[in-house]
Order: sequence, then structure tokens, then C-alpha cells
Amino acid sequence: MNFSRKIKIAASILSADFSALGDEIQAVEAQGADWVHIDVMDGHFVPNLTIGPEVVGALRKHIRTIMDVHLMIASVDSYIDRFAQAGADVLTAHLEAGPHIHRTLQAIRAADMKAGLALNPGTPAETTFDLIDFVDLICVMSVNPGFGGQNFINVTEKIRKLRAIIGDRPVYIEIDGGINASTASLVAKAGADVLVSGSGIFSGGTIDKPQIYGENICTIRQAAESSLAQ
Ligand code: DX5
Ligand code: ZN
Repeated sequence: MNFSRKIKIAASILSADFSALGDEIQAVEAQGADWVHIDVMDGHFVPNLTIGPEVVGALRKHIRTIMDVHLMIASVDSYIDRFAQAGADVLTAHLEAGPHIHRTLQAIRAADMKAGLALNPGTPAETTFDLIDFVDLICVMSVNPGFGGQNFINVTEKIRKLRAIIGDRPVYIEIDGGINASTASLVAKAGADVLVSGSGIFSGGTIDKPQIYGENICTIRQAAESSLAQ
């Protein structure tokens, strides 16, 4: 996984057809998604339940790009090895999920995955100061985590502050929640380089009509790239 600041579109399968996740992943990758974003929720850290490491591991064989696993669970540490075995490339934990996030990030790297740190909308950029050398990705939440299809919360100022904190380190800024063509241009301009989108990609399409996924991906990517060119 080579670091690059080029805009990447990560398709969140939370908005895909859960009865056909393998096919949905193949379809969305064929239509141009750069990463596949998988949301793991525990009904405790967030008020929703999704899938666990067994299902994530079963999805691995359908993913040719990057498997980006976003944990919305507490606690995290006892599951890190399970997600490593499942084949996660990036494993992201929430700063708010427990008192020992530094230890968690170290354990993720020690298990040979890229370490992601997610920040809820109410968590300030400055909380990353003493963690910045222990992360490969910061996931800035632009919705309160738990559900797809929510309205974008404007976190562009936080992205700008994080870009300054990161400096020239090879750390991605990922943005997650409410991303469509208009919000994509705002966040890309502020400094985000991995754009997660669920409903923005999957709405209007189906496995039988996957070209809609491709059109949605293209629209989001073009909006982000053209805002950088201005
Ligand atoms: C929300 C999840 C997101 C979600 C985004 O808790 O972390 O990844 O799928 O969905 P959209 O793009 O529909 O806001
Ligand atoms: Zn997510």
C-alpha cells in the first residue's frame, strides 16, 4: 500500500445489498472504487449492529483493492488479531472508544496493518497531537457514527487543522459521512484525500445496474479533483 495524496474513493458497503455483499464489492470495484470501506458496529459504542470478523474475513476474497475496516466498537484491543486474520489492510479505531488509544494504535501496527484513528464530529483536531506518529490514517467523521444516509456535518475547519498537524508525514485524511458531489469538493479542498461514500455511491444502482455506481463514483471524484485544480 503505497502512500499517495491522490484522491481515493472508498465505497462503504453499509449501503450495499447485504444479501449479496461479495457481488456488490466486485461490482463497485469494477466501477472504479479505489478502496472498500467496511463498517463494523457493536450496538454499544454506536446504536447499530452490523458484521464481525468472520464475515469481514469472508469478504476478503472478493476485494482486490484495499480493505479499509472502520471499527465502531468498544473495546477494540481484544479483536485486533481477529481483524488482522480477516485480512484488513487498514484497521481504524475511534479515539472515543476507550482510555488507551495509544496502545491500540501500536497493537494495530504490530499486527501488520495500517493504523487508523477515527474522530467523532465533537472531538477536536488537537486530540491527535501526541498520536500523530502512531497513525497512518485519520478518519474524520462528518456524521455521528452508526448509520448511512445522514446529513453532512461541516468539519472542514478540523480537516485544515489536521493537515497542519500532519505536515509532511505520510498520513491519510479520510472523511466519512454524507459525502456527495457538493460535500466532496469542500472536504477535498480542505485537505481530505480518502473520501468514504455509502449512499452517495449505491443509491440509484443495483448489482444489475452497476454503471450507476460508476457514474456516482465519477461524479464524486470529479467534484473533488476539480476543487483542487481551482
Ligand atoms: C457511518 C459509517 C459510514 C457510512 C457512511 O457510521 O461510518 O461509513 O456508511 O454512509 P453515507 O456515505 O451514506 O453517509
Ligand atoms: Zn465508516
